[in-house]
Amino acid sequence: MAYSGGVDVGSTQTKAVILDEDGAIIGRSLTDTGANVMAAAKGAFRDALEDAGRMEQEVEWVIGTGYGRYRVTFGNDQVTEISCHGRGAVHLHPDTRTVLDMGGQDTKAIKVAPSGEILDFCMNDKCAAGTGRFLGAASSALGIPLPDLGPTALKARKSVRISTTCTVFAESEVLAWLGKGKKVEDILWGVHQSIATRSMGLLRRVGVVEEVTFTGGVSKNEGMVKALEDATGVSLNISPEGHYMGAVGAALFALDHILASRIPKAVEAS
Ligand SMILES: Nc1ncnc2c1ncn2[C@@H]1O[C@H](COP(=O)(O)OP(=O)(O)OP(=O)(O)O)[C@@H](O)[C@H]1O
Ligand SMILES: [Mg+2]
Repeated sequence: MAYSGGVDVGSTQTKAVILDEDGAIIGRSLTDTGANVMAAAKGAFRDALEDAGRMEQEVEWVIGTGYGRYRVTFGNDQVTEISCHGRGAVHLHPDTRTVLDMGGQDTKAIKVAPSGEILDFCMNDKCAAGTGRFLGAASSALGIPLPDLGPTALKARKSVRISTTCTVFAESEVLAWLGKGKKVEDILWGVHQSIATRSMGLLRRVGVVEEVTFTGGVSKNEGMVKALEDATGVSLNISPEGHYMGAVGAALFALDHILASRIPKAVEAS
């Protein structure tokens, strides 16, 4: 049995997965990227190997992706995260035609072919207002841990319209609304809606073609799922592997390489 690896070094978190020859995920790990990008990549890969119960030598090919993909120095190759999220999403949800990857710093809308090939994509330009970073700012302003943001927002009865278009000012706007006596859940729901509206701008440019698969760390946030479903009018594919989708795609490209390198031997033998 051959194994492949994918390491997605994101701006915020680093994800690693190990796949077996059938494309099944046998190990995964998640760590904060932090300042030492190379150490995060190494640590995530080591943890995924441990989770899989495999030795490094057993993994024939490793692909790095994400903004820190060139820091995956132990890897064999690099592939962009757009390609990897597209490939991973189609692998886990085969009818995917549109992918929305919302990470810590970037949001990307991706149009994919049934093969997983990228047909078009669009991403936020140097602005983190429609990304996990905006949620992070709200989380620290309100003192609510990230995993509780979505469930709290879903308790909202009303929505507070967030007018700031900049993450830097998000914190002060959230605090200003609190000062005016608005409820935390209503403010948070407004924050989620504001991000969903920004994502719609990206999605419209590639076309909201069903099925739509939501990936990246923010896909864990059920409030964001609801806000996006309201904005798009379609139900989104989400999965527990959503956060790992880029790493899964990278490991699938690595598996392609392993399997392709066997073909000449099979042909020679026949
Ligand atoms: N348990 C959780 N609940 C809710 N949100 C979460 C959770 N864990 C992570 N997140 C969100 O996911 C974000 C990180 O996502 P991800 O790992 O996909 O980003 P990244 O790949 O590092 O960033 P980018 O793709 O922009 O470079 C965090 O900023 C946070 O908003
Ligand atoms: Mg990412």
